[in-house]
Amino acid sequence: MTKKERVPSISPLLTVAGLEQSFGGVMALAGVSFQVPPGLIYAVIGPNGAGKTTLFNALCGFYQPSAGSIRFDDQELLGLPPYRVAARGIARTFQNLQLFFNMTVLENVMVGGHLRARTGLLSAALRLPWVRREERQLREWARAALDLCELANRAEQPAGALPYGLMKRVEIARALIAQPRLLLLDEPAAGLNDTETLALQGLIARIRDAGVTVLLVEHHMPLVMSVSDRLLVLDYGSVLAEGAPSDIQADPRVVAAYLGGEVQYAV
Ligand SMILES: Nc1ncnc2c1ncn2[C@@H]1O[C@H](COP(=O)(O)OP(=O)(O)O)[C@@H](O)[C@H]1O
Ligand SMILES: [Mg+2]
Repeated sequence: MTKKERVPSISPLLTVAGLEQSFGGVMALAGVSFQVPPGLIYAVIGPNGAGKTTLFNALCGFYQPSAGSIRFDDQELLGLPPYRVAARGIARTFQNLQLFFNMTVLENVMVGGHLRARTGLLSAALRLPWVRREERQLREWARAALDLCELANRAEQPAGALPYGLMKRVEIARALIAQPRLLLLDEPAAGLNDTETLALQGLIARIRDAGVTVLLVEHHMPLVMSVSDRLLVLDYGSVLAEGAPSDIQADPRVVAAYLGGEVQYAV
């Protein structure tokens, strides 16, 4: 009997098909389709207003698209509320910083872990023994996330006292504590200086190497082109191009619509 050949499994982690989202007369997503293989850094680029943040909001369940499908690990996400999408293994950071400035870095990160833990408010208030165990567990997870983000020595400082670049990394650590399989980063380099951007580049690569697939929305082209494995270019809510960074850089349509012209970067 011949041995059955093992076909390598390359099914995508995320398959978006025909996604549509409109606001009044504006088609923010006009039938967007793409696939993200597992284990990659997959960037989404395009001019302001192209629909990048809308895409993230649709993926996370914040918006309910009018058409299309979002399959994650072969299960449909469309129609699920945000907390159930998060429970399936998708975490995100926001374009605008969302930290509790008076809380420590560690506490800010622990906030992101409550979804993974099972403690409800009532049992927390009653201080049941397993709640304290969970608190310890949460603390451990938070410290691991801080280690990966090279923030371990900042754990006890108030988040509001950190330089901006490190605040952005606290947000990433907070998303990582939930142990997502897919991490969505919305313009993580916005407002960072060159040194901070380089550190961010290293961090994004480490996150991928730790087994988390990364979906990256970013305007900083040197960062995008050096860290991404694959790129999707959106323009007016539609896919303009998709491919490896070198193909995208050489694509005349992309150069005309985005890379070559006078691009208004978001700050
Ligand atoms: N909540 C909203 N209400 C109305 N219009 C929106 C909303 N969110 C996004 N839009 C519109 O959808 C389009 C895409 O926006 P967005 O996804 O934020 O683009 P990007 O993140 O690529 O800059 C823009 O025309 C924007 O004005
Ligand atoms: Mg945006």
